[in-house]
Amino acid sequence: MLQGVLNWLDDRTGIVGGLKKFLDEEIPASSGWHQVFGSVALFILVTQFATGVLLALNFAPQPGASYLSLQYIISEIPGGRLIHGLHHWGASMMVVIVVLHMIQVAIWGAYKKPREVTWLVGIVLLLLTLGFGLTGYLLPWDNRAYWATVVTVQISGLPPGGSVVQALMGSPAGQVGIGVYQRFYTLHVMVLPAITLALAIFHVFLVRRHGVASQPGDEHQPKKQFYPAQVYKDTVAVFVTFAVLFGLAALADIPLEKVADPQDLSYIPRPEWYFLFLFETLKYFQGSWEVVGAVVLPTLAIIALALVPFFDTGKVKRASQRFAAIGTVVLAAFIWSALTIAAIVTTP
Ligand code: HEM
Repeated sequence: MLQGVLNWLDDRTGIVGGLKKFLDEEIPASSGWHQVFGSVALFILVTQFATGVLLALNFAPQPGASYLSLQYIISEIPGGRLIHGLHHWGASMMVVIVVLHMIQVAIWGAYKKPREVTWLVGIVLLLLTLGFGLTGYLLPWDNRAYWATVVTVQISGLPPGGSVVQALMGSPAGQVGIGVYQRFYTLHVMVLPAITLALAIFHVFLVRRHGVASQPGDEHQPKKQFYPAQVYKDTVAVFVTFAVLFGLAALADIPLEKVADPQDLSYIPRPEWYFLFLFETLKYFQGSWEVVGAVVLPTLAIIALALVPFFDTGKVKRASQRFAAIGTVVLAAFIWSALTIAAIVTTP
C-alpha cells in the first residue's frame, strides 16, 4: 500500500524520483568525515529558523516590551527557556561550523575551477551569518544589547558617507532607539532569513552541479555513493552537534542584564564573542585612525578571502603546494582568534 502511495505521489510530483537521484549521486573515493561541516551548517540553519519562529510567537519586538516578553518566554512558557537556549547557542555554533567548513574547503582546495562561485556564495553566507548575530544581539534590549549596538552605530558612521548609512539604519543622530530597533528586527526576521535561504539553496545546487571536489589519486579509486557512505557520516555529525547544542541549551544560563539604560555612561560595551576582534582592533586604532581598524582592515580581509580562488588558479590541490591561498585563510582565522582571545583576556 505504501508503495502504491509513493508511486501515486511520484507520478504527480516526481518527488520520489528526485530524492532517489539526490541520494544516488556518485562522490569521489576521498570523500569523508572532513566534508560533514556543510551539512551540519545546513542543519543549524534550519534549527535557527524553527526556534526563531517559535520565539517570535511570543516576542514583542519593541524596545522595553521585548525585554519583558523575553523574561516571560524564559520563565512562563513551557519549553521557552530551552527554545531560547537553542536559538542563542545555535547562533554561536553556526559561526564556528561555517568557519570550520570554510577552512576545510580551503585546505582541500575545493574552491578551484569550476567552484569559484560556490566559494563566493559561501563568503556571502558567512557575512549573512554574522549579520544575524549583529542584528539579533540588540533584540533582548538589555544593557549589553543596547551599548554594543551604540558602538555598531558609531562604527557605521566612520567611513565617508557614514551619516547616510546611519540614517538608513534609523539613527540619523547616531543614537539607538525605536528606529534602529525596528530595522534590526526586520532584517533579522525577514530580510536575512529570505536571502540566506535562497543563497543556501543556490550553494547546494552549485555543489550538486559540479559534484563534490575530488583529490589527487581519486581517478584511480572506485567512486562511492552519496547514500549511504556520506549520508551516514553527515547524520552522525548532525546528531553530535544537536547533542552539544541541546546540552548547552538545557544546562547553561544565558545572562539577561538589566533593561537598557541610555544614562548608564559607565557601562563598558561588549559585543557577541565573534565581534570582539573589532572592539580589540579599535584599541590599536584611535581617533581619526578608527575607520582603518573598524572598517578598512576587515573589508580588506573579506576581499582577500573572496579572491582566494582567483589568485590560486593552478591545478595543484596538495595543501603543501598552495602556500599563498591556505596562508590567507589560516592567517585570517589566526588574526581573528588572536584578537578575540586578547579581547577576552583584557576586558574587565
Ligand atoms: C550558511 C553557511 C553555509 C552552508 C549552509 C553551506 C553548506 C554547504 C554544503 C551542504 C556543502 C556540500 C557538502 C560539503 O562539501 O561540506 C557545501 C560545499 C561547499 N561550500 Fe559551503 N556552506 C556554507 C558556507 C560556506 C562558506 C563560508 C564557504 C567559503 C567561503 C563555502 C564554500 C563551499 C564550497 C567551495 C563547497 C564545495 C566543496 C566541495 O565540492 O567539496 N561554504 N556547503
